[in-house]
Amino acid sequence: RTARFTVDPDFTVGEVDPRLYGTFVEHMGRCVYTGIYDPAHPTADAAGFRGDVAGLVRELGTPLVRYPGGNFVSGYHWEDGVGPAADRPRRLDPAWRSIETNRVGTNEFLGWARGLGLAPMMAVNLGTRGIDAARSLVEYCNHPAGTAWSDLRISHGAREPHGVRLWCLGNELDGPWQTGHKTAVEYGRLAAEAGKAMRQVDPAIELVACGSSGAGMPTFGSWEREVLEQAYDEVDYLSLHAYYEELDGDRASFLASGAGMDAQIADVVATADHVRAVKRAKKRMRLSFDEWNVWYAQRFAGERNLETAEVPRLIEDTYSVTDAVVVGSLLMTLLRHADRVAIACLAQLVNVIAPIRTEPGGASWRQTTFHPFALTARHAHGRVLHTTATGPLLDTPRYGEVPALDHVVTYDEESGALTVLAANRDQSSPLLLRAALRGLPAAYRVVEHLALTDDDHDAANTEAAPDRVVPRPVTGTTVDADGVLAAELPPVSWHVIRLA
Ligand code: AHR
Repeated sequence: RTARFTVDPDFTVGEVDPRLYGTFVEHMGRCVYTGIYDPAHPTADAAGFRGDVAGLVRELGTPLVRYPGGNFVSGYHWEDGVGPAADRPRRLDPAWRSIETNRVGTNEFLGWARGLGLAPMMAVNLGTRGIDAARSLVEYCNHPAGTAWSDLRISHGAREPHGVRLWCLGNELDGPWQTGHKTAVEYGRLAAEAGKAMRQVDPAIELVACGSSGAGMPTFGSWEREVLEQAYDEVDYLSLHAYYEELDGDRASFLASGAGMDAQIADVVATADHVRAVKRAKKRMRLSFDEWNVWYAQRFAGERNLETAEVPRLIEDTYSVTDAVVVGSLLMTLLRHADRVAIACLAQLVNVIAPIRTEPGGASWRQTTFHPFALTARHAHGRVLHTTATGPLLDTPRYGEVPALDHVVTYDEESGALTVLAANRDQSSPLLLRAALRGLPAAYRVVEHLALTDDDHDAANTEAAPDRVVPRPVTGTTVDADGVLAAELPPVSWHVIRLA
């Protein structure tokens, strides 16, 4: 069983925007408290943030982090999270039925992000609040000095403006579960006016409007159209969200989740372009896939009607080899849409459906999904090349026939580095990969081939065995005298092959 494609740098999809490797920190469960922030931890810095987690975040290679929600933001008063810690109120967070102590707020988060070189992507509350709270937060964060909100920030110890460039206009307001859920027209009007007012404070900001919270929503497609009819001129990006899980033992479809993401992106692009045509607009809407991941939501269903708690353990999924192959494959899908998808955020960063897990005051470790994310973020840069593979197809109940091989190729003209990302989604047969390299400035050789795979497709990393599943070097991958790359991909495996 062989899958073949041709690599030619003359055929480009688009530039890789490094913001495709974004992540997400929500005030939810243990993402913030005992996740990134744990003053009692032996590695905590003076501000209370965990040094071990900071090290893993650096290694993950994410350049962007969305904050503070998520469903949480739709009931959040940002003013609760600034100023002297002792004066901050304890609030009931209706989204996750948690007690929010507000010990971490805007300045603490932005200070942590700055220390790690992460660009923040802040969300404003358009659920229970509106234009005024949104524009005052922008003024608090970004205005240099000499106004009530900026001087308040300075009085809180943040002398320099934070310079937050990227702002989400609310979160998932199409969802009936969302505090302050709205119709598309209600939301579209509010997003347009809030965005306008925020830009009046800081003209340099970029704005993301909420698309649907999933392709399965009954209003999917019409929500995007109606929101953009109201807000097209004011916003720079439209958001997409999607979570994937294995349902009813249908692993073939789960491994093909990239096909679902691919269709969702195509549908949102078509809808946005329809509004553009009707409006005769010049701007082509770009997309922000600002929540995506594997999430075993069915397991969480039993956790509804949550007891109110301070730092509850919520949706701390443990990921397997199969989940890591799916995450790696979803990243390939995002890259193949580099012409339209500019931003994407793996949801979330620590503990809550996350690549990094921690114990309060204790250990931290990398989940299986950490590895394809970190290696993709490190090596897939430059331009995404157009490549079309031929090869075996797999029958999937949910998506019909999908290629066994998933792949994407990036080419960094400056360094000459060529990166082939590939996955074999077949559960029982190995796959031979053959890629004809042409039009390159020199003869290429294999610098490194790393694979994430295991005979046990359910193997996972745990606190007791944190390195049970790690990427391992593969030998025997070659480029022959005719410039054909040859590699063997075991069943259910993810690969990065670096050429130079
Ligand atoms: O990431 C977990 C939750 O999923 C977010 O709060 C929400 O936006 C989405 O439904």
